[in-house]
Amino acid sequence: MIVNDLKIIENKPLTNDIYKMTFEGDLKALPGQFVNVKINDSSLLLRRPISVFDCTEKSLSIIYRVVGAGTKELSTYKEGSTVSVLGPVGSGFPRVSKKKVLIVGGGIGVPPLYYLAKSLVSDNEITFVLGFRDKSQVILENELSKYGKVIVTTDDGSYGFHGNVIKAIEEYNIDFDVVYACGPSRMLEAIDKKYYGQKEGYISFEERMACGIGICYGCACRPRELKKGMLRVCKEGPVFELGVINYDKA
Ligand SMILES: Cc1cc2nc3c(=O)[nH]c(=O)nc-3n(C[C@H](O)[C@H](O)[C@H](O)COP(=O)(O)OP(=O)(O)OC[C@H]3O[C@@H](n4cnc5c(N)ncnc54)[C@H](O)[C@@H]3O)c2cc1C
Ligand code: FES
Repeated sequence: MIVNDLKIIENKPLTNDIYKMTFEGDLKALPGQFVNVKINDSSLLLRRPISVFDCTEKSLSIIYRVVGAGTKELSTYKEGSTVSVLGPVGSGFPRVSKKKVLIVGGGIGVPPLYYLAKSLVSDNEITFVLGFRDKSQVILENELSKYGKVIVTTDDGSYGFHGNVIKAIEEYNIDFDVVYACGPSRMLEAIDKKYYGQKEGYISFEERMACGIGICYGCACRPRELKKGMLRVCKEGPVFELGVINYDKA
């Protein structure tokens, strides 16, 4: 387990509540992995898990939404300051080649799909379907269009296709061999139910975390087949094959 004090070289808003932060360093992350970021405020003991948005030999970037005290504090950190980062950890997305790939993202689940697409584009054909609440929430449309066709959907119809991602996949009649998805649990559940047994597919699942490194079982979720035991999202996940997760709340 690697913990590094990393220099922040960028921390800028992308929308009114979404920020991009870049750390200096060669962290060798895989697409789909995440880092556990320590918040300097000592009253916030738990590290915050944030997915890898992009990674190069010189830097690693995350994109985060300000939702509570931890991410609010993160948004105040200045370029040049350091932060303790544990990871990268977790399972990455399995790589495929020579396939028609459908990448489906919802809201703040879209950022980790950028690094995935970057790793797949050389020998796969990619279509993205990205769902957002409304126009003000749309992120990364231009960045992802470098890697494939992008269809944006909004719940209220204020931008792109009016409706959810599943409706758009059907409406556009998208032909694909493999699906990758990251976003709200109900979106992942819908994709899992629709394509399990039909297509190869992988979803990146989220649970609230405590230790973030596989010790406490705070992030455990139920598998469809109980004989396989509880699954730790931070260790066996966050990426799982279709058909593995039981989405019913116990
Ligand atoms: C594997 C993984 C990857 C993640 N990647 C990203 C990412 O790339 N970008 C990003 O913005 N966020 C990501 N998250 C969510 C992020 O960790 C939380 O938003 C963050 O920890 C909230 O911290 P906070 O102190 O600001 O808010 P808190 O005060 O801890 O919580 C504020 C609100 O957010 C909810 N919340 C907090 N954590 C989660 C969670 N894990 N799942 C669902 N609801 C939660 C709480 O229930 C509460 O309503 C990821 C989470 C996991 C488990
Ligand atoms: S958060 Fe402790 S085991 Fe996953």
